[in-house]
Amino acid sequence: MGIYERRIFPFILDKQMNKDNYKHERDSTLSNATGRILEIGFGTGLNLPHYPKHIKKIVALDINPGMNVKAQKRMLESGLNVEYHCLNSEMLPFETSSFDSVISTWTLCSIADLNSALSEIHRVLKPTGKFVFLEHGLAEEPGMQKLQYWMTPVQKIVGCGCHLNRKIDELIRQAGFQIENLERFIMDGASTPLASSMYRGVANPV
Ligand SMILES: C[S@@+](CC[C@H](N)C(=O)[O-])C[C@H]1O[C@@H](n2cnc3c(N)ncnc32)[C@H](O)[C@@H]1O
Repeated sequence: MGIYERRIFPFILDKQMNKDNYKHERDSTLSNATGRILEIGFGTGLNLPHYPKHIKKIVALDINPGMNVKAQKRMLESGLNVEYHCLNSEMLPFETSSFDSVISTWTLCSIADLNSALSEIHRVLKPTGKFVFLEHGLAEEPGMQKLQYWMTPVQKIVGCGCHLNRKIDELIRQAGFQIENLERFIMDGASTPLASSMYRGVANPV
């Protein structure tokens, strides 16, 4: 992992994703979190202030050790008990059926082997558990889709692996989940219009 990914990208990401429009979307999404929680792609810990008050502990992981500097500070300020791991969500060291909720916000776009990660999320969730997600992905308009396919190779470089063209709901279904609810919307103030087509929902392992 180079200096851009470890030092510069966490700084840019934290600035962009700490804006008010992101905070609003985090609130709406994390209201679905219950029980024992695993957050994947924890980043700089921006979700922490948005967990419902009844949540006291979360298990969190991220592949990029550079995210940890800002994340540590937020963990201390949050008053939550955060068990933090620097690891890849494609292979989880957790027991099968051990979490009530797995949380992912703006993360499925950048996981290299997404099928493996989704199958691991499916494995660690209890049969009654839920996968709570808020992601950008493939737009509905063919013109925008074309641009997204065209720009993804560039975005993968500047956004450290970020794909603009993933059809998030389809990929989640293919991993064996049933989608309980799905909201599609365009997010104002996203980093680029190419990453403004949002998928928010809850999926159950079946
Ligand atoms: C766009 S950021 C979103 C961060 C955070 N979820 C948020 O909402 O602010 C995506 C995060 O996913 C992490 N990530 C990418 N691939 C990963 C993987 N395979 N396993 C775990 N984390 C990963 C990145 O390091 C980055 O912190």
